[in-house]
Amino acid sequence: MEKFILVIFGASGDLAWRKLMPALYTLHQQKLLPETFKVLGVGRMAMTDETFRAKTIDGLSQFVPKSKYSDEDARNFATNLHFQSMDTSEVNDYAELKTRLESLSDSLACEANYLFYYATPPLMYTTITHHLKAHNLTCQDSGWKRVIIEKPYGHDLASALELTKELSQAFAEDQIYRIDHYLGKETVQNILVTRFSNSIFEPLWNHNYIKYVEITSSEALGVGSRAGYYDTAGAMRDMVQNHLLQLLAIVAMEPPTTADGNAIRDEMVKVFQSLRKIKEEEVPQYVVRGQYTESQIHGETIKAYRQEDGIAPNSKTETYMAMACYIDNWRWSGVPFYIRTGKRLPTQVTEIVIHFKSNPHRIFAQKDGLTDAGNQLIIRIQPDEGLLLKIGMKVPGAGFQVDKVGLDFHYSSLTDHYIPQAYERLLCDCIQGDSTLFQRNDAVEATWKFVQPIIDAFANPRKNPIYGYAAGTWGPERANQLLAKDGFEWRYPCKNLASDGVYCEL
Ligand SMILES: NC(=O)c1ccc[n+]([C@@H]2O[C@H](COP(=O)([O-])OP(=O)(O)OC[C@H]3O[C@@H](n4cnc5c(N)ncnc54)[C@H](OP(=O)(O)O)[C@@H]3O)[C@@H](O)[C@H]2O)c1
Repeated sequence: MEKFILVIFGASGDLAWRKLMPALYTLHQQKLLPETFKVLGVGRMAMTDETFRAKTIDGLSQFVPKSKYSDEDARNFATNLHFQSMDTSEVNDYAELKTRLESLSDSLACEANYLFYYATPPLMYTTITHHLKAHNLTCQDSGWKRVIIEKPYGHDLASALELTKELSQAFAEDQIYRIDHYLGKETVQNILVTRFSNSIFEPLWNHNYIKYVEITSSEALGVGSRAGYYDTAGAMRDMVQNHLLQLLAIVAMEPPTTADGNAIRDEMVKVFQSLRKIKEEEVPQYVVRGQYTESQIHGETIKAYRQEDGIAPNSKTETYMAMACYIDNWRWSGVPFYIRTGKRLPTQVTEIVIHFKSNPHRIFAQKDGLTDAGNQLIIRIQPDEGLLLKIGMKVPGAGFQVDKVGLDFHYSSLTDHYIPQAYERLLCDCIQGDSTLFQRNDAVEATWKFVQPIIDAFANPRKNPIYGYAAGTWGPERANQLLAKDGFEWRYPCKNLASDGVYCEL
């Protein structure tokens, strides 16, 4: 691996502190980074290299898993860290940045391989790009130059296109790494392996055998300290436009010809392009929005969203969204993909449920209370990562009665079950120039084109109301009706993959 300098704009922020530095530390500990490299943190705060190192070590001791943390390794890692105090909106500060980078390159005795990581508020992304270009810091005459863009990639279609335009004036597409950290998750990548390395699933993976698909990503926490950002984004921009649509594409894509980055991303883009457009007037039929209201959980009062610090008392931002999507292609004709996400739901879980159709003719009685005879494959992204296949089995004893049982695999049962964090994988890939798990421009554009009419419809709350749901419940009743009108129902997942139940975590 070539030596490089990683420049983190926003190095004093939450993302760098909780995710990026722990990921880099772990890569360094596992010897997945070159022997020598440099991280140049950038922020407005006045900090020396030493203060930055001490602050980083403090963060590592909190956010690196206990089994991986050692003081010695942290100190060793920190020798590679430096800090440059600058205002990224101030053009003159870039000359100093350039000088600093040249001096660090000299000390590494390497070509000017620079990886710029944008971890500032997103409004800064175009400004930083513009100034880097103006200072000739994006040109690849000597060494490579890459840029990682954190989400959100635009606030709407127009701003996403604008950002693309600005980036493309400074970087070629293969220098741009748009991050969606869900793609960095081991369990998300395992969906590809489950589908395309086993011969038993793919023949059934279509409208002939699959009734519907559910994708859930729930959080038990409320808006927390992210009020300023979240109230301008909501569940649609924060989760659906990016993470949930990425999961949908991985579940629905055609087999790529190879595991090559572009082959996989070509197939994902085709899914986005095949999503049936939801016109503004159709939004109430396909989309349900919700916002959490005050409730009592275990005797504790949980504040309503509108009572949270930093949230307007009349906020019209959704903290919950459920949606029925259709993919208009040969494989998925008529199969609904229901996606849902929300804050203050009963538990934090991300999973995909594939509901297979029942047999055409039933010859056995079902055990009392068993309503759905179809098989289910549950792909658990987090927590209790694994797979669960629900099948019918004979209830022991006289006659033939069928009950459903689960065949499950849990990552935790692997001997070495450390699951690398998404940012470890993504940073490592980017440093090696592998963009497979990053979003291409055409994918981002296609997802924004799909969601934009829905976002536009939200501007009319009389036609598209936000339904209240008590904090700690699975969202508004209206979201159940979204499935019930098709004769289906949501699974109610628990922390434990094998369990389900409406109130299991309360
Ligand atoms: N936190 C997460 O878990 C998370 C997850 C996914 C995506 N993201 C995205 O990552 C980005 C950063 O998020 P964050 O949570 O780390 O935000 P944050 O805690 O508010 O940190 C923002 C950083 O940007 C720096 N900054 C702001 N204005 C600047 C300027 N004019 N010049 C130089 N530095 C400036 C701040 O440093 P100074 O104040 O010292 O300048 C700070 O280091 C955002 O786009 C966010 O949407 C974050």
